[in-house]
Amino acid sequence: MQERIVSADRQAGDDQQLEFGLRPRVFKEYIGQDKIKEKFAIYIRAASERNEPLDHVLLYGPPGLGKTTLAHIIAREMGVSIRATSGPAIERPGDLAAILTNLGQGDVLFIDEIHRLPRIVEELLYPAMEDFALDIIIGKGPGAHSLRLELPPFTLVGATVRAGMLTSPLRDRFGVVERLEFYSMEELQKILTRNSLLLNVEIKPEGAREIARVARGTPRIANRLLKRVRDYAQVKADNIITEKVSKDALQMLQLDRLGLDEIDRRLLITVLEKFNGGPVGLDTLATAISEQPETLEDVYEPYLMKLGFLQRTPRGRVITEAACTYLGLTMKSDGHSQRRLW
Ligand code: ADE
Repeated sequence: MQERIVSADRQAGDDQQLEFGLRPRVFKEYIGQDKIKEKFAIYIRAASERNEPLDHVLLYGPPGLGKTTLAHIIAREMGVSIRATSGPAIERPGDLAAILTNLGQGDVLFIDEIHRLPRIVEELLYPAMEDFALDIIIGKGPGAHSLRLELPPFTLVGATVRAGMLTSPLRDRFGVVERLEFYSMEELQKILTRNSLLLNVEIKPEGAREIARVARGTPRIANRLLKRVRDYAQVKADNIITEKVSKDALQMLQLDRLGLDEIDRRLLITVLEKFNGGPVGLDTLATAISEQPETLEDVYEPYLMKLGFLQRTPRGRVITEAACTYLGLTMKSDGHSQRRLW
C-alpha cells in the first residue's frame, strides 16, 4: 500500500529527523504547545527543587504533534536518562520487569502507544507507578508466592492518541494528563523556518506558509513535506524555497490547498452521498470506506473536525456546509448532493 504523504503516522524515513537533529531538544527550541510548556517548566522546577522525580505524565492527542519529543525534553530538563519503548513492544511481564529494574534513580520511562500494553503487563505497572515496587510471583500452584522488589523512583511518561483508550485504573495513576493540540499556521511556519536552517536550505516566509497550509496542523507532516520540497528546490530552483517552488512541489505531490488527500475527500463524499450528509454511525462509515473505526476516529477525523468539515453528534457523524462548499458539492433539500459545476 502506498503511504500517504500527509499521514500523521510515523513512516520509514521520518526517523531521519533524529539524524538531522531536527527535533528540538529543550523547551526553548520547542515551538508551540505553549500552555503545556509553561506548566512543565513549573512542575520540573518544583520537582527538581524537592529532589524528587516528576509525577507520572500522560500525553495524548493526534499523532505527529510531538509527544515523543516532549518526553525526551522532559528527561533532558530533569537531568535524567530516558528509556523509550512502546506498548506493543512489551509483550510479557518479564519484559517490563527487565526494563524497570534497569532504570536509574529518577529516570524517565517513555511508553508510546501505552493503550496497547497487554493486560497482564499493565497490571504489573500499577504497583510500579504507585509504590515503586514490583510484585513478582515465584513458582506455580500451591507453592507459589509473591516477592516484592523495590524499584528506584522513576517517572512514567505515557503517550496515546486518546486518553479514553486507557483503562481507568491506569489513567488514574497519572498525576499530569495533558492533551497536545494541533499547531497554528504561524507555529508551523516557524518550525519550517527553523528546520530549513538545520537542513541547510533557504526558505522564504511565503514558501514556508504554503507548506504550513497543507501540513494539517502537524509538525511531522510539515517536516516530511519540507524534505520533499527541498528536493524539488535543489533540482529545479537553486535550493531556495520560494512561494512558487512550494506551490509547484506540493502540486506535484497532489495535495489540495488544505492538505486533504484522496482518503479525506472520499470520507466526506461518502457521508454526503451515501448517507445524505449524516448522521451516520462510526462503524457504518468505517465499513463504507473500508477503514478501521479506530483509524477513522483517531487519524482522519480530528483534522476534518478541526477544519469544521465534520461534526460528531450523539447520533453519528454529520458533514457541514463548509465541507460541501469546499468540495464543490451542494446538499439538495432532499438530502442528496449535487456536484456543482466548476
Ligand atoms: N520540529 C518538530 N516539531 C517541532 C516543534 N514543536 N518545535 C520545533 N521544532 C520542531
